Amino acid sequence: MLDTSQALVEAGAKRIAIGLARDVEKERLTEEQRQQSLARLKTTTAFAELAEADFIIEAVTEKFEVKTGAFHSLDPHCRPETIFASNTSSISITRLAAATGRPEKFVGLHFFNPVPVMKLVEVVPGLQTAPETVEQAIALAASAGKTPVRVNDFPGFVSNRVLMPMINEAVFCLMEGVADAAGIDNVMKLGMNHPMGPLELADLIGLDVCRDIMMVLYESFHDSKYRPCPLLEKMVAAGWLGQKTGRGFYEYGKQ
Ligand SMILES: NC(=O)c1ccc[n+]([C@@H]2O[C@H](COP(=O)([O-])OP(=O)(O)OC[C@H]3O[C@@H](n4cnc5c(N)ncnc54)[C@H](O)[C@@H]3O)[C@@H](O)[C@H]2O)c1
Repeated sequence: MLDTSQALVEAGAKRIAIGLARDVEKERLTEEQRQQSLARLKTTTAFAELAEADFIIEAVTEKFEVKTGAFHSLDPHCRPETIFASNTSSISITRLAAATGRPEKFVGLHFFNPVPVMKLVEVVPGLQTAPETVEQAIALAASAGKTPVRVNDFPGFVSNRVLMPMINEAVFCLMEGVADAAGIDNVMKLGMNHPMGPLELADLIGLDVCRDIMMVLYESFHDSKYRPCPLLEKMVAAGWLGQKTGRGFYEYGKQ
């Protein structure tokens, strides 16, 4: 696991250790498995130390330049057969692949939050991705206990293409006074059997993230049906970003 500073890799490793300890407490993992997992985890801040890796999953900040910068730092150290995967939620895999110099060895591997719990991984080949690369990505996801679903490289893939317009429409309902936030969420929970309402989910994801993904859909398809709801824009402008800022469609304690 690599990050840009020692403090950040240590913080990441600590979060993993806490998660594994919780899994032992809840009897989802044995103590032996916890120790084995921790022993396999190595941290670094030096790209050269990833030279031996067969498969690298990039999960850096959701900005095209940051991602391509990381791949350019990696590329000279890695063997030509090493596969590069991106956990991007919205950036085109074909575009990222073309910028890496190994487009046939590049694939999207989109995990879901919280990763240890959620089964789904969207496996996204770019236009130039080799079939063997896709097969290896599917095998890797399956070996980690996930359910890989192959999805073609279109903006938002399937997950955010379907989820984000639903959340955005829920915000339109709130703005137009169709129901209040709890009413909208209750309709979707009790009527559609969704475990969380769309507005609760937006607060969990972050309203800025929801707005940014809607903008990716809007600008990619040039279709007004993807325009972010003005209320969503206004809440982002106010800094009401959901759970992480203590206020979104609902209010949260300081914690
Ligand atoms: N948060 C989610 O729910 C979620 C879900 C699915 C996919 N994703 C995707 O995962 C990626 C990361 O999302 P996040 O929410 O964890 O972002 P984040 O901004 O919280 O974390 C990004 C991490 O990348 C590190 N980083 C930045 N530049 C780097 C570089 N050049 N080299 C090494 N490390 C670098 C940062 O220090 C930080 O630790 C994004 O592509 C996002 O779309 C996020």
